[in-house]
Amino acid sequence: MSTVKIRAGSLFRTPCSRIGAAGAGFEERNDDQKGCQTIGSSKTQAGRKTLPARSSAPKDRRVTRCDCQLRARNQTLLAAANIPRRYEHCELASYTIDFPGANPSLAFAHLAASKFAQEYDPRDGTGLLIIGKIGTGKTHLAVGITKDLILNKGISCLFYDYRELLKEIQNSYNAAVQTTELDVLRPVFEADVLVLDELGAVKPTEWVWDTVSLILNTRYNDNRTTIITTNFEDQPAAGANGSVSPARAASRSETLGDRIGERMRSRLHEMCRVIRMEGEDFRQKFRSASFR
Ligand SMILES: Nc1ncnc2c1ncn2[C@@H]1O[C@H](COP(=O)(O)OP(=O)(O)OP(=O)(O)O)[C@@H](O)[C@H]1O
Ligand SMILES: [Mg+2]
Repeated sequence: MSTVKIRAGSLFRTPCSRIGAAGAGFEERNDDQKGCQTIGSSKTQAGRKTLPARSSAPKDRRVTRCDCQLRARNQTLLAAANIPRRYEHCELASYTIDFPGANPSLAFAHLAASKFAQEYDPRDGTGLLIIGKIGTGKTHLAVGITKDLILNKGISCLFYDYRELLKEIQNSYNAAVQTTELDVLRPVFEADVLVLDELGAVKPTEWVWDTVSLILNTRYNDNRTTIITTNFEDQPAAGANGSVSPARAASRSETLGDRIGERMRSRLHEMCRVIRMEGEDFRQKFRSASFR
């Protein structure tokens, strides 16, 4: 096995056999660690490495997955996350809060999103409801969290545009093969983290409400995390508890309550922490290519 000493001290690099050739795919390891054993002869140890012994238990030689295996797994998770190409560039680190006229709510939103990714606990299930005007970067932050969770924690995530998801469910249902419908829904139910982008963007009908309730309730009951973005104001539906008179309802903008129903809006508040984002449309403000 070739090892290359890269600097004084105990760090060595050893070739990761997934890549094999010199250069790319090296693992950094301590000099008393065995490297990625895919290179070794034992097939049962493929992709594993031995952890350094502890002084308190010198004979305890535990074996763990090699980092190259974890990275490969995370790349598979990333490919399966369904992130649209137009948002592939979005990362928490590339979200800027430092530009002239930046609304203070953006810094708060960025901090809350970063903290959420850092402290994510799969047993908790609390998600995020990101509410804000057009182009404030709601989807950017949701994708940034997703990529962080996948690449740093190996969490399975799934991104869906709300309209796309409903269309896919409807298409599979129209095919009159109910098992196909379940094929679309199963990953939506089972992903550790689901991003539902642009909630409420479809004209509300009984079917839409039933479908959204099924998805959100199933995930809520299974304690799975859902991250939601929406442009609709987090206000009650017209007429809910006499909130708005019919005359005023006709002239006001539609609210989240109007689009998903009051019961689901209330369920969302149980499931998610709310992040509000104000400010101008980033796309309009910065037309330069560096921000697209
Ligand atoms: N603060 C920011 N820093 C860097 N890029 C940003 C920022 N805000 C938005 N963008 C970029 O601007 C574009 C629009 O942002 P995004 O789609 O996330 O906004 P949105 O709030 O989801 O808009 P919409 O309401 O139309 O869905 C994206 O390419 C995104 O990467
Ligand atoms: Mg968006």
